Amino acid sequence: MDSKNQLTPTDSAEVVVPCIELDPTLSFFTSELGFRIEMITPADNPNMAIISGYGVRLCLRVGGSGKDVSLRLRSATRSHQLLQAPNGTQVEIISATSQVILPPLQEALVISEFSSDASWTVGRAGMRYRDLVPSRLGGRVIASHIHIPSGGLVPDYVHYHRISFQMIYCKSGWVRVVYEDQGESFVMQAGDCVLQPPEIRHRVLESSDNLEVIEIGSPAEHETFAEHEITLPTLTLRPDRDFSGQKFVRHIATETQWLPWRFPGFLSRNTGIDKATAGFASAETVRGEVGATITDTKKSHELFFVFVLNGSASLSTKDSNQKSILNINSSVALPSNCEFKLEITSPNTEMLIVLQP
Ligand SMILES: [Fe+2]
Repeated sequence: MDSKNQLTPTDSAEVVVPCIELDPTLSFFTSELGFRIEMITPADNPNMAIISGYGVRLCLRVGGSGKDVSLRLRSATRSHQLLQAPNGTQVEIISATSQVILPPLQEALVISEFSSDASWTVGRAGMRYRDLVPSRLGGRVIASHIHIPSGGLVPDYVHYHRISFQMIYCKSGWVRVVYEDQGESFVMQAGDCVLQPPEIRHRVLESSDNLEVIEIGSPAEHETFAEHEITLPTLTLRPDRDFSGQKFVRHIATETQWLPWRFPGFLSRNTGIDKATAGFASAETVRGEVGATITDTKKSHELFFVFVLNGSASLSTKDSNQKSILNINSSVALPSNCEFKLEITSPNTEMLIVLQP
């Protein structure tokens, strides 16, 4: 970095907010919003004041209208509000609560079939995305198939997300990642998976060519914060740390046994996400013989998401006569009131099944 770009602790700044008359605007910002006066000048007939609050310094200066300025203030105690200051400045107060609010679930049957290149959109840094649940079930869930064609170092920084659920499943290739309090960086290979509990600091370091991951999160829209204080890896190792009721999971496929699943003809590799989220969600890789069938009549789940990792399956639902063939890379989100039959139609079929009960 250029030395003139390096800030020192004494460097500071103010955003200039013009006003016609200083007095009413100053008293609005101090009395109404809680800003405090840092400086006012000249003493005999003030025309400028520097005030601070909410992590910002403002310079209220006589000389025009402030209507072209708008401020967003985060408050832990005030609820959402739109205000106009006497000088015309728009003030929006937003909640600073760290509580995650899940929008109401809008159930729908969402089938995402894979059709080679037509399915992808190009995102930042050449990453390719497929939105597997475009309706987002009312904003409740986001599921993405992400492809990084050319690997190498990933231009990421330590960050965290305000979410209630987030998992990443490595479908093919590899990716090196590091997580707060979970030791040194490690490589996720095909079949491996992590549960990123709420607000865990993490960073993606590097990937192979043709990395493909499936990322599932709730709510669909969530905030990502840059972390400037904590560096990774952390010196502390706390694999059992509780993050808002969830624990970090690193599932290593090759170290996990295939066990008989609850549907005959299937084997399952459980990621341990059910235990780590205290039942909020579960994720399993399942492998089925041709003809093996999953049916759901329990109607007890909020999300029943299936991604075909390999092979194919046919889906039929009670409400519609049509049969959908889910080939490799296709997915389906099934509503809870949907009686369905998902039947394996080719050998070596593997699927990722994510449930939120
Ligand atoms: Fe992240």
